[in-house]
Amino acid sequence: MEERVYNFSAGPAVMPLPVIEKAQKDLLCLPGAGASIMEISHRSKTFDAIINGAKENIRKLYNLPENYRVFFMQGGALTQFALAPINLAQGKTPDYIVTGTWSKKASGEAKTQGPVNIVWDGKAVDGAFRRKPTADEYKLNPEAPYCYITGNETIEGIEWQSEPDTGDVPIVCDSSSNIFSKPLDINKYGLLYACAQKNAGPAGVTVLILREDLLERSADNLPSLFSYKKVEAGNSMVNTPPTFAIYMLGLVTDWLLNEIGGLDKMQAINQKKAKMLYDVIDASNGYYKGHAEKAYRSMMNVPFRLPSEELDNKFKADAAAVGLASLGGHRSVGGLRASIYNAMPVAGVEKLVTFMEDFQKKNS
Ligand SMILES: Cc1ncc(COP(=O)(O)O)c(C=O)c1O
Repeated sequence: MEERVYNFSAGPAVMPLPVIEKAQKDLLCLPGAGASIMEISHRSKTFDAIINGAKENIRKLYNLPENYRVFFMQGGALTQFALAPINLAQGKTPDYIVTGTWSKKASGEAKTQGPVNIVWDGKAVDGAFRRKPTADEYKLNPEAPYCYITGNETIEGIEWQSEPDTGDVPIVCDSSSNIFSKPLDINKYGLLYACAQKNAGPAGVTVLILREDLLERSADNLPSLFSYKKVEAGNSMVNTPPTFAIYMLGLVTDWLLNEIGGLDKMQAINQKKAKMLYDVIDASNGYYKGHAEKAYRSMMNVPFRLPSEELDNKFKADAAAVGLASLGGHRSVGGLRASIYNAMPVAGVEKLVTFMEDFQKKNS
């Protein structure tokens, strides 16, 4: 295949074309460095500027107050499922609101470190994950060390449109599949983290935004690379960081700031793309069935089904043949899923919705 397709993969996912072009242009020789980004020391002045620039971009995008720290770790989001309780629980029992596969998995990993209080589990209540709870359906513990949510459930396509009211208890949020997709009031969060490979860059780096008073919770005897306090104090370079991934994260955040114009603008584009897709689903007289309840639909991941598995498969194959790629649902749930992250152009969604309308006409 020689031409780029419209790539609806859930992750690793589509990257902004100008970012890939810039990386390609500078791949042999980073300006001023005399070598590629992959060949220079993480202790060099050049890399220092890159990592600090990426951090500064994130501060600007989320308009972070002084009392929030940005740092990077490795091991993907899954590592944070354990590191959040290791660093933040302090032997107390955190609250978990389970709205989908990823928060379920996070609570399971947390349980390897100590007790966890599942305050609501959508599958237990409804038989399937299709929504987030309303405030009257769960009771939070005001003494909990944190309350955990998954900002966007990538597999089921369920998104928290606004944060739960947790009072003084800090929210810990896995924002892996919706980081940088919309503005946030970060003051509601103790920790927001995300693996990069959906909306922030290539796989290999995890972004953490942590309220600084929570740094004090990390026990002093934690191994260095497990400790938020030690990694943050070491400017994310206690050991060799994923230099290429951080460089790309810098380019993606440059693109968001300078070409898109910030997260308000990114949100408006994302809303437009999501509306186009959901409108076609809703106008299909049940031919296309969305997974999540309407009020909780994700702006980033749109899972849906056709009337039969056979048609799901035909849809996937016919779509791939015209350059609409990676539309298969997660292996655990099947069906179809269009991931329409920041970098998916409006033109890609236009092409998909036209294809959906044609497919329905020809196959119903
Ligand atoms: C919401 C969410 N959390 C966690 C993960 C796991 O991330 P990683 O593979 O980086 O551990 C993913 C995606 O794969 C995800 O979508």
